[in-house]
Amino acid sequence: MLRKEQNDILTQTGPGTPMGALFRSYWLPALLPEELPENECPPVRVKLLSERLLAFRDTQGRYGLIDEFCAHRGVSLWFGRNEENGLRCPYHGWKYDVTGQCVEVPSEPAESGFCQKIKLKSYPLVERGGILWAYLGSREKQPPLPEWEFATMPASHRFVSKRVQECNWLQGLEGGIDSSHTSWLHRGELEKDPLFKGSKGNQYNLDDTKPYFEVVESDGGLNIGARRNAEHGKYYWRITQWVMPAFSMVPPRADHPMGGHFWIPIDDENCWTFNYEYHPVRPLHADEVHALKTGKSRHVVYIPGTYRAVANKDNDYLIDRAAQKAGITYSGVAGFAMQDSSIQESMGPVVDRTKENLVTTDNGIIMARHRLMRAAKALVENGVTPPGVDPTHQKVRAVSIVLPPDQPFKEAAKEQLKARPGMAHASV
Ligand code: FES
Ligand SMILES: [Fe+2]
Repeated sequence: MLRKEQNDILTQTGPGTPMGALFRSYWLPALLPEELPENECPPVRVKLLSERLLAFRDTQGRYGLIDEFCAHRGVSLWFGRNEENGLRCPYHGWKYDVTGQCVEVPSEPAESGFCQKIKLKSYPLVERGGILWAYLGSREKQPPLPEWEFATMPASHRFVSKRVQECNWLQGLEGGIDSSHTSWLHRGELEKDPLFKGSKGNQYNLDDTKPYFEVVESDGGLNIGARRNAEHGKYYWRITQWVMPAFSMVPPRADHPMGGHFWIPIDDENCWTFNYEYHPVRPLHADEVHALKTGKSRHVVYIPGTYRAVANKDNDYLIDRAAQKAGITYSGVAGFAMQDSSIQESMGPVVDRTKENLVTTDNGIIMARHRLMRAAKALVENGVTPPGVDPTHQKVRAVSIVLPPDQPFKEAAKEQLKARPGMAHASV
C-alpha cells in the first residue's frame, strides 16, 4: 500500500515532476523506424512524458523530434510541409530544421536575422536496434546510446513491436515484474503459444502455483527470482530482470527467443508498451517471425493503420466466457499481451494504491517502487544519476534455471544473468 503522495510521485511524469525528471535521464523508446519510412515522409505526432512533440525525417534522412506547435501563432506542425531539409508551417510559411531552429520567416527580410532568434524545443532522436530512441533531458547530461542486448543484435535475430496501452505506465511495469500471475492468468497459453510451448519450465509453472519470491538489487534495478518446485528436491527458478525505470525481461522458455517490454509514459493515463524478442545466437525462424507478426507471444493484432489492438477496452477485449469456463483461456481473453493489458487497464487509468492489500509475492513490486522513489529523490535533491543510465547496467539477461536447493540464485546464476555475446541464454 502507498500513501496518496507516493502514488502521485510514481505515476506523474510530466515536466517538473520528480518521476518526470527521472524518465528524462534515459534514452527512451519513442517510435518504430517504420513510422518514418523515407526522407520527406509525413511527420508523426509523438506525445511523451505529457509533452506534445512531432517527429520527422528530413531530405537528408536526419531525424528530428521538435515541439508540435509553430512558434508564430501555435499551429500544429503536423499539418506542415516536409520539404528541402525542413518542416514548413502551412499557415504563414515559417520553416524549421530537425534541431527546431527556425530557418525561414518569409514575411521578414532575411537580413533582419529574425528567424535565427526563433528555436523550437527539440530533442535528439536516434535509430538503434529497430527502435527510434529519444532523450528528453538536459544536453549536458545526455548519456551514451542504449546497450540493451536485443538492440545490439543483427536485425535477423530480433523482432520489435509497440502498442498503445490505456493506463498509467506503472500498472504495465508492475504486471511485467509480477512473475506470480503467470500460473494463473496465462496458464491457458503456456502450452499453446508457439513461442512458449514445449518447455519443461511450463510444467513447473503449472504444477506449482505458489512460488516463493526472492528479490535482490542489481546495479540497474532488481533481479526478481520466483522459485518453484522441480524434481528430486531441486528448484526451478525464473529470474526476471527489471532495469530502471521501465525495462523488463521475462525469463525464457526452452530454445525460444527471449524478450520483454518497456513501458513509456505518453501522459499520466496512457503509455506505449514496446515489446522485443531476440535470440542471442541465431536468427529468428520464419515461422517465429510469422507468429510474432500475427499477435503471438507479447505481440498483438492491430486495428489497421494504428498501434491499438483489435481486442481493446471498447469491446471488452473480445472476452469469451465459454473459453473461460472451459479453461481454454483462464480469463476468457486470448493471448498473453491482451491478457496482461486487459487486467492492467481494468484497474482504471491510474490505480488507487492506497486501497491495495499486498502479499509476499508482491515483494518485487514493493522494492521497485521504493527504488524508483529513492532514485527520483536523489536525482532531484542532489543531482545523482539514477541506476540504469549507465550502459553496463543494461547488459543483462533474464534466466530460467534448475538449481540445487542450497544455492542462492544470485550466486549460482551470476554469469547467466549477464548479457554474454555469442553465448546462448540459460533457459529451461
Ligand atoms: S502559425 Fe505557423 S507560420 Fe504562422
Ligand atoms: Fe503477463
